[in-house]
Amino acid sequence: MSPTARPATEWLADAVLYQIYPQSFADSDGDGIGDFAGIESRLDHLAWLGVNTVWLNPCFASPFRDAGYDVSDYFSVAPRYGTDADLVRLVEAARSRGIRVLLDLVAGHTSDEHPWFTASAADPADQRYIWADPRDPATLPAGFVASPGPRPGFYLPNFFASQPALNFGYARPDPAEPWRLPVDAEGPLANRQALREVMDHWLSIGLSGFRVDMAASLVKDDPGQQETVKLWRELRGWLDARHPQAALLSEWGDPATSVPAGFHGDFFLQFGPVRDGIALRSLWNNFEGTVNEQWQPLSPYFGAEGLGSPQTFLDIWRSVTDTIGDTGYACLPTANHDFSRLACGPRTAEQLPAAFAFHLTWPTVPAIYYGDEIGMRYVPGLPDHEGSRLGPRYNRAGSRTPMQWDDTANAGFSTAPAEGLYLPLDPDPARPNVAAQRADDGSLLHLVRRLIELRTSRPELGSRAATEVLHDGYPLVYVRGGNHLVVVNPRRAAAELDAPVDHAAPVLARGVEVGDGRIRADGLGYGIFEI
Ligand code: GLC
Repeated sequence: MSPTARPATEWLADAVLYQIYPQSFADSDGDGIGDFAGIESRLDHLAWLGVNTVWLNPCFASPFRDAGYDVSDYFSVAPRYGTDADLVRLVEAARSRGIRVLLDLVAGHTSDEHPWFTASAADPADQRYIWADPRDPATLPAGFVASPGPRPGFYLPNFFASQPALNFGYARPDPAEPWRLPVDAEGPLANRQALREVMDHWLSIGLSGFRVDMAASLVKDDPGQQETVKLWRELRGWLDARHPQAALLSEWGDPATSVPAGFHGDFFLQFGPVRDGIALRSLWNNFEGTVNEQWQPLSPYFGAEGLGSPQTFLDIWRSVTDTIGDTGYACLPTANHDFSRLACGPRTAEQLPAAFAFHLTWPTVPAIYYGDEIGMRYVPGLPDHEGSRLGPRYNRAGSRTPMQWDDTANAGFSTAPAEGLYLPLDPDPARPNVAAQRADDGSLLHLVRRLIELRTSRPELGSRAATEVLHDGYPLVYVRGGNHLVVVNPRRAAAELDAPVDHAAPVLARGVEVGDGRIRADGLGYGIFEI
């Protein structure tokens, strides 16, 4: 590549991601589960909103013990979502509106119903999975599960027991654990090849890339993830040659490692190697919904009491940016299918505008989790569904409830009987919906749309322009691209401080003024100004 040539994935710089949980977005055939045709019917709305890249959670054939993260065939879609042809139609309909579609690649494990696994559980010579058969099973490291097939011994799962880890080898041999194969053994190489075939299949029919599930998990006992990094670099080399437009975004939670490993971008997550996911939780930790008992209590910066600080996030973001420069992107989600929504616990609807003002003017690539743009809340108290529950206070179902489109039956999500929906709707009679917010110019939805419009029309507010932080408390004050001043005050108390300029022209502001050399910010206010 010549030094001036732009990489073909440059589109990511302007991406505004929108994550769709396909089960819960729009049901076109009345079976209570969302589907491709449903998503297609809502593309005009997404185009109106201004998002340009949609990421779908796994929609491959699956027994759904982990909501589709247990794939039983990577080459065909689950019938609940429609046919492969329906997916192709959706992708083309999206493209005609300027929207790219990414799928979710579950690279590290399959379902225990995948034919690769059932074959492996029947053939003691098969290496596609990690099998141990020690003389004394009491010596096995934790986690191994007894073989369900004629093969003797135990296999290693990656997440639930129904998700056997694909064998990408071990970084270090250990004579006491003879099942540790090197990364270039036959089984691990076959799995690498399979990843290429899966990617090639979907990219060839028009998909624009993948979010890669548990991307750091591939090679086992891999200090510093060095062998996993090599594996992804090799795949990236192949991808650049064969599908140079395609993007890989990792679920890794450490862009400083995953981008040099070949990912075009990586998400800040609620967990991960960098101080256990503290970057994301320091912004919008919720105390409720998806709480890992191991996490230290942490007051989020976006909390009305004003007990948090943006400094944790800023420090980690700065060190990531110093490492990756413009070789890739850190992505910042509002929430996701594993983490509670912005509207959760003590965070109420009035607090969301300031959160979005930050999210959409910060240089990280923004990812909006479906429904957050109208302030859908995390619904507490739901039963476990398709593996949603991970702990006593950790139920992902509350972030996966049906999209609220209007005030008709089932909020316009489905014509099925209410008890037949994938998950129940938020029972709150005041639950927000798209139709009401589209009709109300002052709604959160309109604000999110305006913010996206500003971000995509003004490069100064995008992911490439400079960012200078002027104040990192309440409020957070920063200058983007040298000429846009942004002020967000997520606490309920007002704040006043010196401004870098005497006066500034508001572009989009509520409750923040800049005049006479001072910034005056009401509680929960935000403002974007030209300076
Ligand atoms: C990722 C997914 C999560 C899934 C897990 C196992 O963390 O986001 O939903 O349960 O991987 O595949």
